[in-house]
Amino acid sequence: MLPASKVVPKELLPVLDTPAIQIVVEEVVASGITDITIVTSPGKGALLDHFAPHHELEQFLSERGKHDLLQTVRKTSTMARISAVEQSRPLGIGHAVLQAKDAVGDEPFAVLLPDDICDCARPCLRQLMDVAEERDGPVVALMEVAAAEVSKYGIVAGTQIARRLYRLTGMVEKPPPDKSPSRMAIIGRYLLPPEIFDILADARPGHAGEFQLTDALLELGRRRHLYGYQFEGTRHDMGDRLGFLTAQIAYGLRHPQTADKLRSYLASILS
Ligand code: G1P
Repeated sequence: MLPASKVVPKELLPVLDTPAIQIVVEEVVASGITDITIVTSPGKGALLDHFAPHHELEQFLSERGKHDLLQTVRKTSTMARISAVEQSRPLGIGHAVLQAKDAVGDEPFAVLLPDDICDCARPCLRQLMDVAEERDGPVVALMEVAAAEVSKYGIVAGTQIARRLYRLTGMVEKPPPDKSPSRMAIIGRYLLPPEIFDILADARPGHAGEFQLTDALLELGRRRHLYGYQFEGTRHDMGDRLGFLTAQIAYGLRHPQTADKLRSYLASILS
C-alpha cells in the first residue's frame, strides 16, 4: 500500500471513516474480549495514539454541541483495555506473537492480523470461539482460495469433521501451487493455547527467513487436536489494492449516509 503507508501505518488506513485496526478491535470486543495487546513496530506510535483519549478534540466537540461525534471519538479510548508491546525487528508473525507472551500470561488467547478485515454477520472471532469452546482445542479461520493464490497464504491439510469444520493434519506457509496440500487458506484469526509460546521460543526461521506462526501451529498440531473453521462472511485484505477497494464498497453499500448514492453511482458506471 505504498506510498499511502509511507508515513501513515497501514493499519490506520480507513474503511470509510474507521481505521482498519479499530474495525478489528471492534470485532474482538463484539466477540467478548476486552483486554487487547497491540504488537507494534518502531514508527507506529500513531496506532496507539488512535486508542488514547484526545482531550482537546473532545472538549472542542463538546463545546460545539457535536454529541454524536463526541461519542464516536470517546469510544476509541474506552471500548477496550489496550496495551502495547514493541517488536523491534520485523522477524515474522511468530516472533511478533512471542513478544506478547508476558501480556497474555497463562491462558488461551486470540491473534488477529489487522490486514484482514472479516465482514461477518456474527464476528469471525466469535465463530472461532464457539468452535474452541465446543471442541476444547485451538482453532484457526479458513477460507477457500483460487489455486493460483495459494502461494500468498498458509495452506492447510485436514479432514472435514462437521459443517465448515476441519481437523487439521498439516499446514505449510506460502506453498507453490503444485505443492499445495489444498486450497484452504489460513486467514488472520487464530485462537491459541499459551503453550504456543514455548513452541515459538524454540522455533527456527521458516519461509522467507521469518519466524512463521504457521510452523508453530504445525508443531502444536502434533501435540493436540487442532481445528480449522471455514468462517461465514467475507474477508477483505487491506494490504492489497483490490481488498482495500472491496472493503470500501462493501461497507459503503451498508452505511446509511452512503449506501443509496454509492449504489446508483456503481449502477451508472457499470451499465
Ligand atoms: C499471514 C500468515 C499466513 C496467512 C495470512 C492471512 O501472511 O503468515 O499464513 O495465510 O497472513 O492473511 P501475510 O499476509 O502476513 O504474508
